[in-house]
Amino acid sequence: MKTILQAENVEKVYRVGSVDVAALRGVSLDLEEGEFLAIMGPSGCGKSTLLHLLGGLLTPSGGRIVLDGEDMTAASDAKRTDIRRRKIGFVFQRFNLFPTLTAEGNLRLAERIHAGGAGGAGGNNSERRREVLSLLKLEDKMHHKPLELSGGEQQRVALARAIVNRPAIILADEPTGNLDSENSAIVLNMFQEMNYRFNQTIIMITHNPEAAAMCRRIVQMRDGQIVAPNTGLQV
Ligand SMILES: Nc1ncnc2c1ncn2[C@@H]1O[C@H](COP(=O)(O)OP(=O)(O)OP(=O)(O)O)[C@@H](O)[C@H]1O
Ligand SMILES: [Mg+2]
Repeated sequence: MKTILQAENVEKVYRVGSVDVAALRGVSLDLEEGEFLAIMGPSGCGKSTLLHLLGGLLTPSGGRIVLDGEDMTAASDAKRTDIRRRKIGFVFQRFNLFPTLTAEGNLRLAERIHAGGAGGAGGNNSERRREVLSLLKLEDKMHHKPLELSGGEQQRVALARAIVNRPAIILADEPTGNLDSENSAIVLNMFQEMNYRFNQTIIMITHNPEAAAMCRRIVQMRDGQIVAPNTGLQV
């Protein structure tokens, strides 16, 4: 098995005015390709901070993060952005969809960003977009803009956007946090299917024990640290 993500003794201190907030106090985590990992823990324990660091949206105050062989910590901002574009699919708790674009337009934009900005060789992946949208039961909503979609549908578009480029890793911050049970089930089934069928690597923050139970491994965090268990709990 191949290690796709390594965090070594990662620390993060936020400075608020003259006060330092230690959000992460030495987190180490190894992730193999094809793992489906849940991160759980009380509010404020550092879950989102960890996810943002793993995906290169933030830089650590200490420690090291290696993503698919590339040291994110040593990389310049530009390099880190480039790695993130190529390897990471983010699902944020707030959907961050582009309001004036349709569902399909949001996917197309993600493809162009992935390919390196508006001038990049984006290619036309309408087939792939259609496939992803239909996997998420959105084929009839393809031409709707975010305001013409329900919350659950918007979350599914956000998920489609995260996976359309087949990133090495999907990082999802409470992807079912705002969803009813029906929409949660669609999102979780989609994750599970991608994990089993395509060996897609996924890290998902969740407060929901049922969602966590679908994952092959669960880590618990408290006060900026991983408390239990950090090794192969196979369900
Ligand atoms: N940009 C920031 N500036 C200062 N402090 C921050 C910032 N972001 C987070 N924090 C603090 O860092 C700690 C960890 O926050 P984080 O968002 O990682 O928690 P979380 O585990 O994701 O919580 P939740 O379950 O509520 O989303 C908290 O004490 C929070 O107040
Ligand atoms: Mg959070």
